Amino acid sequence: MRRVTIADIQKMKNEHRPITMVTVYDYSSALIAEKAGIPTLLVGDSLAMVMHGHDTTVPLKVEEILLHAQMVKRGSQQALILVDMPFMSYATEQDAVNTARLLMQEGGCQALKLEGGAEVVPVIRRLTEMGVPVMAHLGLTPQSQHQIGLRVQGRDEQAARKLIRDALAVEKAGAFAILLEVIPAELAALVSRLVSIPTIGIGAGVGCDGQVQVWHDVLGLFDGKSPRHAKRFAEIGAQMTEALEHYKADVETRSFPTGAQSASMEAAVIESLENEFG
Ligand code: KIV
Repeated sequence: MRRVTIADIQKMKNEHRPITMVTVYDYSSALIAEKAGIPTLLVGDSLAMVMHGHDTTVPLKVEEILLHAQMVKRGSQQALILVDMPFMSYATEQDAVNTARLLMQEGGCQALKLEGGAEVVPVIRRLTEMGVPVMAHLGLTPQSQHQIGLRVQGRDEQAARKLIRDALAVEKAGAFAILLEVIPAELAALVSRLVSIPTIGIGAGVGCDGQVQVWHDVLGLFDGKSPRHAKRFAEIGAQMTEALEHYKADVETRSFPTGAQSASMEAAVIESLENEFG
């Protein structure tokens, strides 16, 4: 089976077939996502928080996300793989070209995602001219969280107008898709009608052309409250804890390992060793 392409996801939008995307950060998770038939995988900079334990996406470096991109690539044969460009790694057009070279050539991904609208148009234009497919990320852009906070974006008329203008600008600059994060569902549906490229939403309602979720959220890997836009489709974290508790109990009671998990040798050989050394 060949890898999903940008043309494939454009076709899905044109045919009104919803596009599923999930964040993936390593080899074994990529294998699982592929088995589930997820067509698009995002090596998201959310890994700064869920994999590296940072409070925000800001500290993540290009070399760090590159390593995760390589792991995901090794586990994925079919999905379209996108990688986030980390904070400040596309501050200038030259920075963006350098980052894109690393992530595309050494990371092996098919597309990149960067945050911003009109202000990143020159970067999007430059990258697309160089043959790099770019997804733009509008609405709640976590790399700017110290500036805009983590609240719903585009709620009032002025902010909604800016978001629409940004969406049209990034499309014109050559973006092949737009991620819409935490904006009103009505606005996301309108943007999705106004642009001809696919929109992928997170916390942006069902009117987007597709949806993305964070791996740890959909699988219920962390205890506690999930973000409002997330749905836990399983409680894998609780299952993992339970499995490890059983493992520990079995070790402590010497119920593990049993003969099934052990190798053995001929009785005469061990007897002779015991006689000599024991
Ligand atoms: O890094 C990330 O997880 C994202 C989400 C919006 C999907 O960009």
